[in-house]
Amino acid sequence: MGFAQVGAESAWRTAETESIKGEAARRGVNLKFSDAQGKQENQIKAVRAFIAQGVNAIILAPVVETGWEPVLREARRARIPVVLVDRGIQSTDPSLVATLIASDFVVEGRMAAEWLARKTGGKADIIELQGTPGAAPAIDRKKGFEEVLKMNPGMKIVASQSGDFRRSGGKEVTEALLKGAGAGANAIYAHNDDMALGAIQALEEAGKKPGKNVFVVSIDGVKGAFEAMAAGRLNCTVECNPLLGPMAFDAVEKALHGEKLPAKTVVQDRVFDADSAASELPNRKY
Ligand code: AHR
Repeated sequence: MGFAQVGAESAWRTAETESIKGEAARRGVNLKFSDAQGKQENQIKAVRAFIAQGVNAIILAPVVETGWEPVLREARRARIPVVLVDRGIQSTDPSLVATLIASDFVVEGRMAAEWLARKTGGKADIIELQGTPGAAPAIDRKKGFEEVLKMNPGMKIVASQSGDFRRSGGKEVTEALLKGAGAGANAIYAHNDDMALGAIQALEEAGKKPGKNVFVVSIDGVKGAFEAMAAGRLNCTVECNPLLGPMAFDAVEKALHGEKLPAKTVVQDRVFDADSAASELPNRKY
């Protein structure tokens, strides 16, 4: 089997890679792994290489939403089922993929905004740290968050930029925005924990107190976020479960047996904040 992974941009991504590799090993599957280093052209090349090698199935975590149809048609012509994990794609032909196993990123964005609305009494000037441009979680987490903002006129995004889902990106973008449009912000919404952890560093270096005089809310629920919440430096994280290996391999097996799968299986996520962080930390698996 082939697994075309996005890259290694975040702790979440590393956990997802380990989950899929671990499940392959448990099932005795020979897994060919490709790290696209965040570039769609590398992922497309990897999928083509898997097809040329005659794999039985392909697991794909697509970097961005668009541009997949030609290579997916090639996989279909070769009768190789493709199971999408984590991120969806835009396509006019849903039959090009066997199924998608992923969280609902719009709901995650909504949950982050609802938490912030409750804690700020609906008054916040927000810096938004967006994920990779064109990626499903960046698009949908923005959408869900903004839906809630529309119902809370006292909350507004004062500055917004991509930090590419990386800790270094979150830090650099926050440093820059704090010197400009985000100077007076009292909240940061990061599309993932790694960027939030970078932003926390930038806030502290600018003499601010993240978690206290600047609310920081993010998504993923990685261990580093729980540690930051327990230390009072991060306020809230919305879980996005990366442990997709067992579900992905179940789906592959069904697809190989010709079973029809649902278009999407939604992974359920929860919200955690500083109140529950310390007690939850020992239970975290990623
Ligand atoms: O697609 C899931 C997102 O991608 C995770 O939130 C983020 O950490 C990762 O890089």
